[in-house]
Amino acid sequence: MRINFTESKVKKEKPNSENLGFGKYFTDHMFIMDYTEGKGWHDARIVPFENISLSPAAMVFHYGQEMFEGLKAYRTKNNDILLFRPDKNIERMNNTNERLCIPKINPDDVLEAIKELVKAEQDWVPSLPGTSLYIRPFIFATDPFLGVKPAQNYIFCIILSPVGAYYKEGINPVKIFVETEYVRAVKGGIGFAKAGGNYAASLCGQKKAYDLGYSQVLWLDGVHRKYIDEVGTMNVFFVIDNEVITPMLEGSILPGVTRASALDIVKSWGYKVSERRISVDEVFEAQKTGKLNEAFGTGTAAVISPIGLLDRETEKIIINDGKIGNISQRLYDTLTGIQWGLLPDTFGWTVKVK
Ligand code: COI
Repeated sequence: MRINFTESKVKKEKPNSENLGFGKYFTDHMFIMDYTEGKGWHDARIVPFENISLSPAAMVFHYGQEMFEGLKAYRTKNNDILLFRPDKNIERMNNTNERLCIPKINPDDVLEAIKELVKAEQDWVPSLPGTSLYIRPFIFATDPFLGVKPAQNYIFCIILSPVGAYYKEGINPVKIFVETEYVRAVKGGIGFAKAGGNYAASLCGQKKAYDLGYSQVLWLDGVHRKYIDEVGTMNVFFVIDNEVITPMLEGSILPGVTRASALDIVKSWGYKVSERRISVDEVFEAQKTGKLNEAFGTGTAAVISPIGLLDRETEKIIINDGKIGNISQRLYDTLTGIQWGLLPDTFGWTVKVK
């Protein structure tokens, strides 16, 4: 693929790596490519990071035909820059596209676009432990048309943001509210897709949880309202009687790249690992009988995030005395060790950008 490069005349001042937070700063350039029906994806370019001009009638504003991905670039101590399993994000991107009637993109072109953009912005990859460059590819419908149908024109864009921890707690345990009023997704819907619409559906519950003093929401399945789905910004794991359990992929939860990696790592340690339905009752019961060892979330943004407290309105449980569990800590160290090139990449997951 040919990528045109237009260099930004203005170079922004880089933020202090000590307090990056998540998603607040953006680099000097972005990648952009257009889709026109009959012509396919075309005009790949890296251009200055700037506003995009769209018709107020652009279909994305009205019917939400939009998808996004999230992955990170990490600076190693040798100054190499690594991506973590970009093939998995690109595969999921095309699965999402299929569900949303967005035209698929050649996976090699997406990887090339990511690598070239990160290479162009390599000075923006922070080096402080715990920091990285978050990569946000996204696609949206641009046709100026108010009828409900799949669009014929799209923009694929990639922006970059230097980030630290997603939650203010860092790797310290988060408090989570079990949502019983709203649901995020149902099987047959778009829960498994990385679509903005899933996050829009989660905002009301998330706001309610924030207002009550919680970091996040634990979503239950939309049919029985009792099986655990996910947290919205991360997949969830429970360790009960030394069995590592995560909800199975039944269509309503996101097939997380960190989820899949955590499963492989924990299996390689010899733990009994189950992908199955797990009800919120089972988790609360396990706590009562002293069998709930720990709980944690996994996500690209959240990495490994221990869960210290669950509140389901009628009762609250404090998990592992509100402390980081052994598996959570070991997983965090192993995963980030591979990502930052501090541990051997025995699974062959990292891809070098430079
Ligand atoms: C990610 O972990 O990359 C996500 O997309 C979660 C969230 C920031 C929306």
